Amino acid sequence: MGGTFGIAKGGEYCPSIAGLAGFIKCMAKETSQTQSRLIDLDLSDSLQTIATHLVSELFSNHTTIEVAYTGDDRFTQVPVATPIDHSYVKNDFNLNNKDVILVTGGGRGVTAEVVREMAKEFPSHYVLLGRSSIDLDEVKDLKLDCEDKEIKSYLIQAFKKSGRKFTPKDIDARASKVRGALDVHKQLNYLKENGHSASYHSLDVTDLDKCQKVLNDVKQKFGAVTGLIHGAGVLYDKLITDKTQDQFQRVVSVKIDGFFSLLDLLKGEKLKFIGLFSSVAGKFGNVGQSDYAASNEMLNHLARGLEKHFAGCRMISYNWGPFDGGMVTPQLARMFKSQGIGLIPPTIGAQLFVEELAYGPHTTNEIIVGAGNLELGGNSIDSTKPNLKFTKTVKVDEDTYLKDHCLLQNPVLPMAMVMEYILEAANYFAPDLHLVKLSDLRVFKGASFDTNSLDFNFIVTLEDRLENGVLLAVDIFDENNKFKQYGAKVLLATEKPCLNIPSLPEKIDYKEFDESMSDVYENYLFHGKSLQCIKSISGFSEIGIGAILETSNPSDLIKNAKGTWISDPVILDGMAQMGLVWLGKTQGCIGIPQGFDEYYQVKPFEGNLVKCMIHVNKLDTKAFKAELDTWFFDQDSNLIAYGKGWKAIFNESFNSYTTKAKKANK
Ligand SMILES: NC(=O)c1ccc[n+]([C@@H]2O[C@H](COP(=O)([O-])OP(=O)(O)OC[C@H]3O[C@@H](n4cnc5c(N)ncnc54)[C@H](OP(=O)(O)O)[C@@H]3O)[C@@H](O)[C@H]2O)c1
Repeated sequence: MGGTFGIAKGGEYCPSIAGLAGFIKCMAKETSQTQSRLIDLDLSDSLQTIATHLVSELFSNHTTIEVAYTGDDRFTQVPVATPIDHSYVKNDFNLNNKDVILVTGGGRGVTAEVVREMAKEFPSHYVLLGRSSIDLDEVKDLKLDCEDKEIKSYLIQAFKKSGRKFTPKDIDARASKVRGALDVHKQLNYLKENGHSASYHSLDVTDLDKCQKVLNDVKQKFGAVTGLIHGAGVLYDKLITDKTQDQFQRVVSVKIDGFFSLLDLLKGEKLKFIGLFSSVAGKFGNVGQSDYAASNEMLNHLARGLEKHFAGCRMISYNWGPFDGGMVTPQLARMFKSQGIGLIPPTIGAQLFVEELAYGPHTTNEIIVGAGNLELGGNSIDSTKPNLKFTKTVKVDEDTYLKDHCLLQNPVLPMAMVMEYILEAANYFAPDLHLVKLSDLRVFKGASFDTNSLDFNFIVTLEDRLENGVLLAVDIFDENNKFKQYGAKVLLATEKPCLNIPSLPEKIDYKEFDESMSDVYENYLFHGKSLQCIKSISGFSEIGIGAILETSNPSDLIKNAKGTWISDPVILDGMAQMGLVWLGKTQGCIGIPQGFDEYYQVKPFEGNLVKCMIHVNKLDTKAFKAELDTWFFDQDSNLIAYGKGWKAIFNESFNSYTTKAKKANK
C-alpha cells in the first residue's frame, strides 16, 4: 500500500491487502507459536532497504502486527482520542425530505437504532434493506416484542395442529425468520408512529439483480438515492483452521460484495454521505473472526480510498466496539459486563453516528467508537481484553481418533481431548503467558456424535487479574448455545512458577499385573488403535496402578493437523484408561470420567514413553464414585505433570461398553 498503509497522499489503494491485515491480526491471536506481521512497503525503495526492514521485523519480538516502511521511516497506527467538538460548524448536507437514504440492515439490529436517530435529525425518506421477509402468517398472531420462547411455543403448537412432523431445528429455523419479520414490523411501526418516512425491501445485498430492481423502483417512487448507510453484516465465528471457504465467503460477501453492488448501482448519483458499519475486530483482530476482521478492514480502507471517486461525499467508517444489542446476545452481554468491558447502548451509538456525520471533520474517514477501555494494541495483560468467543467444529471423518472412542455405537468426545481444547482456548486468550494449572474441569453433558460433525461454542472469560497472571474461565456450549457441556478454570502466569507438587505416596505397593495388554483392551476398555497407548502395566495394588504410556502427535489423531499438543490428550486418556482398568479389576465394573480438580503441567510431554503412576485417594463403593491422583514422569524420572482429583462414577451397566461386551452382543 505504498509504505504508509495507503493513508498518505500517493499511497496505494488496495482493499484486499487491507483485508489481509485484518486477517493476520486474527491469525496472530489464534496461533501462539508463529510471529505474524503485515509489513507495508514502499516498492520504490531499494531492494537493500526493503530487505533490511524485512529482516529486522522478522527477528524483532515486539507485539505490533501491522507496520509500514517508507525509506527509513517506520510507521504504526495509533488511535487518537478525539471527542466531537460541537463548536465546529455543522456539516451542511442539507438533508431534507427530498433526500433518499438507503440503509442496508436498517430493519433490525443496531443499524435500525441508527435509522431512528437519523430520521429524528434528518427528515428524509429511508429505504431499509434486509433479508427478512415481513409477509409471514405468524406475525398477525404474535406481539412485536414477544420473547423468543413465546415464538417457539407458538410454532410448536402450530406445527402440532397442522399434523406436520418437525424437529427442534425446524422450530429454531422458523423462529429466527419470525423474529426477523417481527423486528422489521416493529421498526416500520415506530418510524410511522413518529411521522418519519420509510419503506422496507426484503433482499440479500449480495444479489445484484434484486438490488437493481429495488433501486429502480425506489428511484421512481421516491427519487434518486443521496445517502448510503451500509450496516448489513453476519458472523460465523470460527478458528481459521475450522472455517470453511463458504463460511468465510459469506461473511466477507455481505460486507464487501454487498457494498460494491450498491456502489455500482449508485454510480452517477450525487451521494452526500456514505456511512459504513465496521468493527474493532478489524482494527485489533479477534480470535474466530478472521473473515469478519478482514471485511471490516477492507471497509475502512474503502472509506479512505473511495472518497476521490465521490466528490463532495462525506465517507466514514465506524469501527464499533461491542453494543448492548444486535449481534451481542444477552449471554455475551452479561459476560462483557462481568469483565468491565463497556457495551455501547444502541441509542448512544446511534447519537454518536449522527454527531460524527454532522460535526466530524471531512478529513476523518475512520473512527473507533467504544464504551470504556478498548484494547489499543499489544498483548499485554494490563490492557482490557474483551472475552473471547469462537466456535470449533469437530468432525468424525477428520478427527479420526473419535472412531476409536465409541461407548456404544456413537463416537464420544474424550474428556482428555476436551482438556486439550480448553488449554488451547486459554492460550489463544493470552499466548504470551505460561500455563500454571487447569482446575475445576467438569463434564455437564458429554458430546456424542450421531452426525459427522458437531460445533462447540467456546467462551473464555477473564475471571480475575492477578499480580503476575490471569485466571480464566473456559466454558464450552453446544452448537445452539443452549447448554453448557464442559467448563474449567485455567491459571496463566507471566513466569513459569515453582510448583509445590506433593510427591508420590511411598506406600503404594505395586504388585505384578497378570494380564496381557490385548486382554486389558478387550476386558476393561473400548478404545481403538489410535488411543491404545498403554504399553505395559508396571504394577497394580488396592490403592493404585502404574503403567508405561506412549506419547502422541496431533497428526496421529487429526487429519492434516500440524504443530504440537499443549498437553497430550492420548497420554491423559491413557491415564483415564488406567483408572478404568483399576476399577474393573477391583470393583468388577468400569466407570466414566466426571471431571478433574487440578492439573499441573511442569513441562511438555516430550520423548516417546511416559511413566504414569496413579494413587486412589477416594473410593466410595456406596455412591459408586472414585477419585484418583496421578503423576507423570519422563524416562529419567523427572516430573512432567501432576493431576489431582480425577473423578469417575462406576457401575456394572458401563461394562456393556467394553470391547468384549460389544463383541458378545453382536
Ligand atoms: N453489535 C455489535 O456489537 C457490533 C459491533 C461492531 C460492529 N457491528 C456491525 O454493525 C452492523 C449491524 O450489526 P448488529 O449487531 O445489528 O447485527 P444483527 O442484529 O445481526 O443485524 C445484522 C443486520 O444486517 C442485515 N443483513 C445481514 N445479512 C444481510 C444480507 N445478506 N442482505 C441484507 N441484509 C443483511 C440483517 O437483516 P436480516 O436479518 O433481515 O437479513 C440485520 O438488519 C454489522 O455490520 C456489524 O458488523 C456490530
